[in-house]
Amino acid sequence: KVKIFTELKQIKKFIEQLKLDKQSVGFVPTMGALHPGHLSLVSEALANNDVAVVSIFVNPTQFDNAEDLEKYPRTLENDAALLRTLSPDILIYAPTVEDIYQNNVAAEQFSFDGLENEMEGKFRPGHFDGVGTIVKRLFEIVTPDHAYFGEKDFQQLAIIKKLVEKHRIPVRIIPCAIHREVSGLAMSSRNTRLKPAYKEAAPFIYKTLESAKEQFGTKSANTVTEWVHSEFAKHDLLELEYFIIADAETLKTVKRKSKQKKYRAFIAVYADDIRLIDNIALN
Ligand code: PAJ
Repeated sequence: KVKIFTELKQIKKFIEQLKLDKQSVGFVPTMGALHPGHLSLVSEALANNDVAVVSIFVNPTQFDNAEDLEKYPRTLENDAALLRTLSPDILIYAPTVEDIYQNNVAAEQFSFDGLENEMEGKFRPGHFDGVGTIVKRLFEIVTPDHAYFGEKDFQQLAIIKKLVEKHRIPVRIIPCAIHREVSGLAMSSRNTRLKPAYKEAAPFIYKTLESAKEQFGTKSANTVTEWVHSEFAKHDLLELEYFIIADAETLKTVKRKSKQKKYRAFIAVYADDIRLIDNIALN
């Protein structure tokens, strides 16, 4: 049976016992409203550890938009039922805001050597301080051997690697591929909020990324970027926030291509009031 812990003391005690029994722990932090993308991370965790811990916590300090926080889907019962279908060796940790933040719902401040100033960091001020704060606390509580993060949030993944390195947290970060709908749309908890016309339009995002990738083979980053802007300028429903071709390591916008480097394209788009992100490896 899948266990749900809400209290800090309980989960700490349970994990201590696991450690005494020499059980390895794989950890998948989430904000819930689980979909097959999340479940692919949980399956990886189960395949490579004795138990998988899934945290479900809509972390207030990483939202820069009060309405987004308020409207974020919360479906704990359904999430638990989904996880139950995967395996009995899953432990859910669903803490309360008070448990995590006591009476001070505020983020710590971090430096991630500049990674935090690009893309999502620019357009969502404070977002990565919130992410760093919660993930560091969860790592302290769960003390996982492995932790699984999706490339869907590629910048977040890079920042978590940096967090672990800088703070010497003894955990291995495992990147997981982006899980997509048949249409190509990257799965996201926010997709459930898309009105039908926007849901239908949204696969245009990934189609554009694929086409950008193809063009990047022969064209400059600037030319491809301008093309993407012109495609979205023609689109009635989707509004481009940014499209950036960046060095996959530093996440800095590429000026001139070099053969030795790995590049990735990153995009953020508004579909109505829902913000969608996606990215693709270019080489
Ligand atoms: P959340 O958006 O719920 O995502 C939880 C994890 O699932 C993240 O590592 C994310 O990259 C991954 N994920 C989401 N959609 C995916 C997809 N379509 N394919 C592959 N992986 C996918 O990211 C967060 O929550 C939060 O910021 C968190 C790390 C939990 C801190 O609060």
